[in-house]
Amino acid sequence: MRISVDPDRCQGHAQCLSAAPELFGFDDEAEHALPLQEKVPAGQEPVARRAAAACPERAITLTD
Ligand code: F3S
Repeated sequence: MRISVDPDRCQGHAQCLSAAPELFGFDDEAEHALPLQEKVPAGQEPVARRAAAACPERAITLTD
């Protein structure tokens, strides 16, 4: 599973970081979330899904 964050949709609500601090961080300007890892580690898929669902802007896409 891979994570992508649409910078045009992300408004910096940080719900993804709260739900999955091991998977998301902020860019240098702290404006947009970024995936911290290219691939979601095995077993972390449910956490990634919770984080994506928590984003009020629907900025997070998960792909297999
Ligand atoms: Fe951005 Fe959504 Fe996270 S708005 S900071 S991707 S909760």
